[in-house]
Amino acid sequence: MMIKKAVIPAAGLGTRFLPATKAQPKEMLPIIDTPTIQYVVQEAVDAGIEDILIISGRNKRAMEDHFDRNTELEDRLTKEEKETLFNEIRHIADMANIHYVRQKEISGLGDAIYYARFHTGNEPFAVLLGDTIINSVIPVTQQLIDVYDQYQSTVVAVEVVPKDKVSRYGIVGGDKLSDHIMEVNTFIEKPSIKEAPSNLAIAGRYILTPEIYKALEQTPKGKNNELQLTDALLNLSRKEKVMSVTIEGKRYDIGNKLDYLKTTVEYALRRKEFAKPFYEFLQQIVKETDGKNL
Ligand code: UTP
Repeated sequence: MMIKKAVIPAAGLGTRFLPATKAQPKEMLPIIDTPTIQYVVQEAVDAGIEDILIISGRNKRAMEDHFDRNTELEDRLTKEEKETLFNEIRHIADMANIHYVRQKEISGLGDAIYYARFHTGNEPFAVLLGDTIINSVIPVTQQLIDVYDQYQSTVVAVEVVPKDKVSRYGIVGGDKLSDHIMEVNTFIEKPSIKEAPSNLAIAGRYILTPEIYKALEQTPKGKNNELQLTDALLNLSRKEKVMSVTIEGKRYDIGNKLDYLKTTVEYALRRKEFAKPFYEFLQQIVKETDGKNL
């Protein structure tokens, strides 16, 4: 079956990014001038997906406004003959058919995905975490769809992480089928270096089949008393094939402050209008501070 729909979980409380996330979604934090979730929607669209369900929650209204039209702003831009900006603003409202459902209690990524069951029905679908952007030549969702087309099974994106950092991630283990594809039989959240079956970390992109819903129903609440998608995937992998694909691309987790800063700097250095002055500024500021606050 073709992958036509994507689900973007974006209901989390964002406690690692307080106080910025007290009254606004972390998924709306901008990387330079574009909210994180717009990059995520763009990735899905670039992979040929036109129907997107955003799992939303309290304090998340800004996302809906962002993907809607703003006629007052459009009128102003027309009057001021700011055509480029006008087109950019209009384009956002036309990117895809975006639907919303609210997660009533924020009780885990697995629970968030379970809200998508009426929308995705019997179809397989892509999942893109709303606080994670991946810079790549081929959209990562497309890389996963290609593997799904080959195996018609659940596909989990993974990335290679340094061995001494495995305890920060969800790690997979299994049988390698090629240099980038593995049949997964273990999922471990934040293992010690000794426990870790590999150094492949779950990277925030998935292709899920409708079987995930049954697996979620049969999975008890896990860490933090939340329904964990990783636990449900482990259960599922005992019944049917779950593949992992080592993605080509660089992942940025916007949900923690340091990575957010790094992402902003990297993206600024990549932007034509900022690259040179920003590079010069960084050089100068590094020289001036000379590691004094380390
Ligand atoms: P995180 O675990 O990074 O988000 O979930 P969080 O819970 O908001 O973060 P902290 O730990 O409190 O800072 C990854 C993605 O899944 C969504 C989040 O919005 C984020 O985009 N999510 C998480 C949900 O939609 N619902 C949940 O119950 C949990």
